Amino acid sequence: MKDRLRKLIIPGLGLLLASGVFAQTKMEVQVNKPVSDIQPTMWGIFFEDINFAADGGIYAEMVKNRSFEFDTPLMGWIQPNSDRHSLNEKSGMATVIKEGDEPNNHFARIQVSNADGYVLINEGFRGMGVKKDNGYRLSIMARRQNSGIERINFQLLNENDKVIAETSISPTSSDWKEYKADFKATDTEAKAKLKITFEGTGEVEMDMISLFPKDTWMGRENGMRKDLVQLLADLDPGFLRFPGGCIVEGRTLNKRYQWKKTVGDVADREMIVNRWNTEFAHRLTPDYFQSFGLGFFEYFQLSEDLGSEPLPILSCGMACQFNTGELVPMDELDPYIQDALDLIEFANGSTDSEWGKIRADMGHPEPFNLKYIGIGNEQWGPDYFDRLKVFIEEIKAKYPEVIIVSGTGPFPDGEHFDYAEKELKKLNAEIVDEHYYRPPKWFMENADRYDSYDRDSYKIFAGEYAAQSVAIASPDNKNNWLCALSEAAYCTGLERNADIVHLTSYAPLFAHVDGWQWTPDLIWFDNLSSYGTPNYYVQKLFATNSGTKLIPILSDKKPLKGQDGIYASSVLNEETNEIIIKVVNATAGENEVNISLSGAGKLSPEGKIIVLKSDDMDQVNSIEDPMAISPEEQSFDVKGKKLDVSLPAHSLSVIKVKRQ
Ligand code: AHR
Repeated sequence: MKDRLRKLIIPGLGLLLASGVFAQTKMEVQVNKPVSDIQPTMWGIFFEDINFAADGGIYAEMVKNRSFEFDTPLMGWIQPNSDRHSLNEKSGMATVIKEGDEPNNHFARIQVSNADGYVLINEGFRGMGVKKDNGYRLSIMARRQNSGIERINFQLLNENDKVIAETSISPTSSDWKEYKADFKATDTEAKAKLKITFEGTGEVEMDMISLFPKDTWMGRENGMRKDLVQLLADLDPGFLRFPGGCIVEGRTLNKRYQWKKTVGDVADREMIVNRWNTEFAHRLTPDYFQSFGLGFFEYFQLSEDLGSEPLPILSCGMACQFNTGELVPMDELDPYIQDALDLIEFANGSTDSEWGKIRADMGHPEPFNLKYIGIGNEQWGPDYFDRLKVFIEEIKAKYPEVIIVSGTGPFPDGEHFDYAEKELKKLNAEIVDEHYYRPPKWFMENADRYDSYDRDSYKIFAGEYAAQSVAIASPDNKNNWLCALSEAAYCTGLERNADIVHLTSYAPLFAHVDGWQWTPDLIWFDNLSSYGTPNYYVQKLFATNSGTKLIPILSDKKPLKGQDGIYASSVLNEETNEIIIKVVNATAGENEVNISLSGAGKLSPEGKIIVLKSDDMDQVNSIEDPMAISPEEQSFDVKGKKLDVSLPAHSLSVIKVKRQ
């Protein structure tokens, strides 16, 4: 590298170049010296129901507390003409009734004494996103008891209480019966609400009051928000990890994620409180529950839609150690292990197996072809390894082909991490999940993390990572360009070690702008729109420009891992016959690079360079300016086996050349 550069230190990033100064770097890509295969799972997605990711987010249900199962049974429901102490006899009232011992056994009994006066409103998840001319599908379970209530009217109101859609149903049956109605919106509104009124007086009981846009992902009923899934599809993810995250573990064992309670009829899925609802005093969301309308069947289906390997993570019998750390005694672990075995049967079993039949009955007789299963999320200490050992023995005895993903705990170094490494090696762990929520500087400085890892041991799943602009879980963290650029530098290190790094995912994935608990997050949304952060575009550039073979890229015969602020990795995509080079210029000066491609064969005369950049390290994308930082593509001339390209200051560039 030609070193005629003035340097300066910028807080938070370390070594940078003075603005305006530019450098030249020579690089060599050894196309004919492939180092290893790259796994198709290399760039994936981590999904957790945090920040309204599922309920209030990708799960397109618009009614909050649709089945009156919240701990405060009428949370989300407003009766403007009644107050809870002196219920207005002149109009009516809703009472939540519990019947039977089955899950989801609450419903609302509505007594109407004055049809003109009684109103019931659902506020949605920080409102309801309604789009002009879009169709909406209402469904409700109702039971009419000796009632003069002839009709139930449903209206969507905008913020000024103007009606923007309306429909009605006539409850006829004295037994529980489902009623459906479709309607269309005349206006767009981000914070609409659902108003319910009654014609006639008397008593009617209602449950599962549900409202979905018709235009869900793939038009499915009980479906997902199309724009949000599209953002995932655009990442071309190699795998989908679900359902988390700490949500797997629960604050207590009783509130852990139990996949069996999330399959079958949606109305029968047992709702529980979301563990993120009051986790952070600075971001309380007491109305955050898990309806499990998005359950394990839907996660598998989503994986299939995205062409991703499903990667479920299950409780290992330990509640979150940041909360109660409750432990299942070793001699009571069987039901937890059985859950794992049954999950494999649910995903892969024949349709005449117990759990395979449930999958088939839900509309998917073909297996989901599950290859991986994760045991435990962020556990640490001997209790985890004692339990993991039994899981490994039992799963491998029945399903030797299923790959088990284990974890190293919440931190990428320190006492617990070192202990985990040793124990995992003793257990011959196959793939190990590492988490790092660290400052941008850490990402820049650790781009060589895996260079020194043992090549004869387990493979790596970089399962949760994100640069934190302030501190872990600080509400002031921003998805700014400094964080994204540092992750890009780090990703070149992940890719350069693709022989042992087999899966990677940024975390968390989603956040509702009015309903989040944790920041930074990859994708932000409100009730109408969504956008990818600069971090999203970093992930997208790596994931959609992945390769099948890792090939060396060197400068002065050394891998580029931060020397003079330059980080690089290169791959060959044998399917498209492209050489793909990713370079991060973390300096404040332009860098003119000269890349020679040795052993490349004949090249197409035109190459492509896709650049993601900003001059402002604090810059972010937003609902108002969703593409402020987004990739721009240009062509350049290829001269023989040499590429001359200019890398802008503070940029990630993806350089692509086709072999002829
Ligand atoms: O991604 C947010 C949380 O961070 C995850 O739930 C947990 O695994 C980690 O601590």
